[in-house]
Amino acid sequence: MKNTKQIPQIETIQPKILYYGTPVILLNTWNEDGTVNISPISSSWALGDCIVLGIGLEGKAIENLEQLPECVINIPSPSLWENVEQLAPYTGKNPVPENKKKYGCAYQKDKYAISGLTPIESKAVKPTRIMECPLQIEARVKNIRIPDHSPNFAIIETQALHVHAHKEIIMEGNHIDPEKWSSLIYNFRHYFGLGNQLGKTFRSEI
Ligand SMILES: Cc1cc2nc3c(=O)[nH]c(=O)nc-3n(C[C@H](O)[C@H](O)[C@H](O)COP(=O)(O)O)c2cc1C
Repeated sequence: MKNTKQIPQIETIQPKILYYGTPVILLNTWNEDGTVNISPISSSWALGDCIVLGIGLEGKAIENLEQLPECVINIPSPSLWENVEQLAPYTGKNPVPENKKKYGCAYQKDKYAISGLTPIESKAVKPTRIMECPLQIEARVKNIRIPDHSPNFAIIETQALHVHAHKEIIMEGNHIDPEKWSSLIYNFRHYFGLGNQLGKTFRSEI
């Protein structure tokens, strides 16, 4: 292991955003009229079959999840960043909430049309999956909690029901090939892909 003795200079700052580089997901939820809403989200983590999402209370996604606790967590690759960005200035919420209007957010009902993405039927949930996303996870909402200290968003606990993957990123049956798969990273409001592999952990099976 390298022993670097350089001591970094450190400052204490108050950044407006803390998007320190997490994968983008496209969250599909069921609209009241039977169509599907797509919301770009970067606040998530996964452990076992539990996927936790952070979702603003003013958007359409949370409204839909409260009505029907089912979703598809679609995970785009870096090549889909422009499709994601096509969705960015829109909400499925009508009328558009005042806070969203302030940054130029407009109402858009047909998120598939605006993003150029393609729906495919899910196995166990009502919202469709996005064909172009190499990973598509059907999930059920198990709990919705609003943190006391930050009442503008909800912490949504979901349970993954089915994981669908493009064949070319699957290896040895049930593994995702880390050489072939890269998520799209949201890094302080800029999009990135992953760089070259650095190594692997002692528990890696592949
Ligand atoms: C790349 C990206 C990541 C985002 N991450 C989140 C997030 O983690 N949580 C959230 O509530 N909104 C996030 N947003 C903002 C929502 O996408 C935005 O509020 C959108 O209007 C939600 O759509 P909806 O109202 O139709 O659900 C993100 C936007 C982009 C473009």
